[in-house]
Amino acid sequence: MKKVTTIAGDGVGKEVMEAGLTILESLDLNYDFIESKAGFECFQNCGTTIPEETIKNAKKSAATLFGAITSTPSEKSPIITLRKELDVFANLRPIKTFEGVNSLFNNIDFLIIRENTEGLYSQIESFEKEEENKKNSKITKTIAKRVITKNASTKICEFAYKTAIKNNRKKITCVHKENILKKTDGIFKESFYKVAEKYSAKHPDIKANDYYIDATAMYLITKPQEFDIIVTSNLYGDILSDEGAGLVGGLGLSPSANIGDKNGLFEPVHGSAPDIEGKGLANPIAMILSISMMLEFLKEDFYSKQINKAVENVLKSKKIATPDLGGNSKTSDVTMAIKKELESI
Ligand code: NAI
Ligand code: MG
Repeated sequence: MKKVTTIAGDGVGKEVMEAGLTILESLDLNYDFIESKAGFECFQNCGTTIPEETIKNAKKSAATLFGAITSTPSEKSPIITLRKELDVFANLRPIKTFEGVNSLFNNIDFLIIRENTEGLYSQIESFEKEEENKKNSKITKTIAKRVITKNASTKICEFAYKTAIKNNRKKITCVHKENILKKTDGIFKESFYKVAEKYSAKHPDIKANDYYIDATAMYLITKPQEFDIIVTSNLYGDILSDEGAGLVGGLGLSPSANIGDKNGLFEPVHGSAPDIEGKGLANPIAMILSISMMLEFLKEDFYSKQINKAVENVLKSKKIATPDLGGNSKTSDVTMAIKKELESI
């Protein structure tokens, strides 16, 4: 039987994973779910935020489902380690409005594709010390390296084009800050237009354009309907996707997929939400939509679409919603409503 590794993590990560597994178990699927550890609690219990066994399980699985973790002050991020180990180079974050959810705009439907392996998230940081005297040295300068390679830039832009073709999307916007970061963002933008040129003959209907990151932050609020696919580097993509989540109802509704040539890792965009932990108030929909993305990756298209439909129906009915969407339902109420909807459609 095919395997799926599940990593609940910390805080509401555990609560939304429980909800997700309730949905998965109600479907007629043939997968073994292997529970694995990562996160803050794992660090306290076993001295590492991500044990080797978890990485091994994830590598052996057809897909990995991740809840959320609480960051530790000094350890490397387990989710970033996992993304690197699984070489899931593309991070996909759909931004879509749902009927029945209060949001600033209607008819938003775009996809942020974020390079997932390099950029400022390479985590190459260092201190430079200035000698004050022989005994004491004072840190006065900190440096972070931002790695942008032609290879990874080309790969993510190719991925954006393939995704556009597959999903019938008609515009790809490259987001960068090439006017200031002339070398690093220069190579990203250049790689984008090379890929665009390659696809232009066969797919002239897909438009290519580019914006600076700061202007994009504004356009997302002034003309969000204009976007179809955004392709960008790691940190820009991280920031824009939280902004995008804010446009359409918040982190409780935002799923994500991390895709590589072999592996797939699926997770809600949100973190462990310590402010609502343990109260049963976490919105499980970001996790449930991440499961839908996972099932699409596993070629279980039927259930992937059914889940989207069930979530849409529950949101549209406006009867059952967690407090982040203005309701007073619990995580389990929303989960059960989606499960029931799945049984009836
Ligand atoms: P967060 O995403 O945990 O929470 C931000 C806000 O969104 C909070 O008000 C929270 O209550 C709300 N929220 C988050 N998920 C929700 C849900 N499912 N339903 C309803 N409301 C929800 O981000 P924050 O507070 O910045 O970070 C908390 C911890 O999570 C930190 O340790 C951070 O490092 C970690 N983190 C982990 C991530 C991951 O595991 N991939 C991603 C982001 C943060
Ligand atoms: Mg983030």
